[in-house]
Amino acid sequence: MKTSWLERIEQLLSVLARIWETEEFVPVSRVHVSGVSYKTAGMHMIELLEDMVREGIRVRTYATLNPAGMDLELWREMGIPEEFARNQIRLVKAYEKLGIKPILTCAPYFCGNTPKFGEIVAFSESSAVITVNSLIGARTNRHGNLEALSAAILGKVPKYGLLLDENRVPTVKIDVPFELSSEAHYGLLGIVIGEKLRAEEVPIFYFHKPPFFSDLRLLGAALAASGSLALFHVADITPEAVRKRNFTAESQSMESITIDQNELKEAKERLFQKPEKIDLVAIGCPHASVKEILEIDKRLQNKRIKEDVHFWIFTSRYVKELLRKQGVLERLRRKNVKIFTDTCMVVSPIEYLGIKGIATNSAKAAWYIPRFSKGEIKVAIMSIQEIISEVAEVSKK
Ligand code: F3S
Repeated sequence: MKTSWLERIEQLLSVLARIWETEEFVPVSRVHVSGVSYKTAGMHMIELLEDMVREGIRVRTYATLNPAGMDLELWREMGIPEEFARNQIRLVKAYEKLGIKPILTCAPYFCGNTPKFGEIVAFSESSAVITVNSLIGARTNRHGNLEALSAAILGKVPKYGLLLDENRVPTVKIDVPFELSSEAHYGLLGIVIGEKLRAEEVPIFYFHKPPFFSDLRLLGAALAASGSLALFHVADITPEAVRKRNFTAESQSMESITIDQNELKEAKERLFQKPEKIDLVAIGCPHASVKEILEIDKRLQNKRIKEDVHFWIFTSRYVKELLRKQGVLERLRRKNVKIFTDTCMVVSPIEYLGIKGIATNSAKAAWYIPRFSKGEIKVAIMSIQEIISEVAEVSKK
């Protein structure tokens, strides 16, 4: 007799509980599900989800979707092939039929799926996991997409890992005794530290100068990319560090790492190759906030992106709509800047565009794109300021 999907999902969570040596389950209030791009999920995922739909499965928890492989409206402008688009739409529809909201962003915390401090959730996008754990103080383990889907369907997760107080205490101090010169350097720092630590470690950073929220998102995404980390603290800044007085008692016996400026320089030279020509500027990994896009708009005052460069910003529909209402979208379009939603430069099939050289301010994107493109695309990591001075010219209008 065929086992039902509900039974299989129950089994999956039980196996997970056994692996983590717990018998206790806790309810989850929100879920965020990855595995939405047809590029990475494939036909097998579509068939699996459609099978669940036929069986009448629905989620019982508020759940949202991560980016897909294309902008669901502007996919032709992105150069996406018809067949890919057809399959991508079918995949998103299958998730929707299970009751999951297609917000299609990796920054769900900007778009309604915003946990509170201490709330137990189940997220499966590594950058969103580390952001809500570290910058909001919510609690989630780093789930695979089927685990998160199962949590949304059953409304519960095994109680283990980062849901427990003892696993949220920092294990290593990271001293950064110099000022990081741009947002891109926070990402490089994340790559360097991620390579030094094991996934279950929890660093606490001591910065020379207080970072912005946007810098910490880039840091977290990179820590998750190179080291699979899911939580970090920043002394005097992040909510648990502030509430626990920077874990002063625990930190007495902690290992300590002091970062040397040369390590970031060396990481930049080792990991990233500057392309001969920048064909595409890709901003928004993780998906850009309103503030980040307004900053780009400001930097482009009296300037325009050169005609032979694509300048793409990836964000959510929610953020794009806010920018449209303020007239920013139209102003950026006149400056040759395009804003795409529902997707990003890593999960979309950019290889179809004939792109060979990309510039980005995101270390996570710079880490993944060469791997996903089998080295055919070269990626330069630069700050927004550096990128604009290279690809913009004085506007004649
Ligand atoms: Fe988001 Fe894509 Fe980066 S899903 S974190 S923009 S790789």
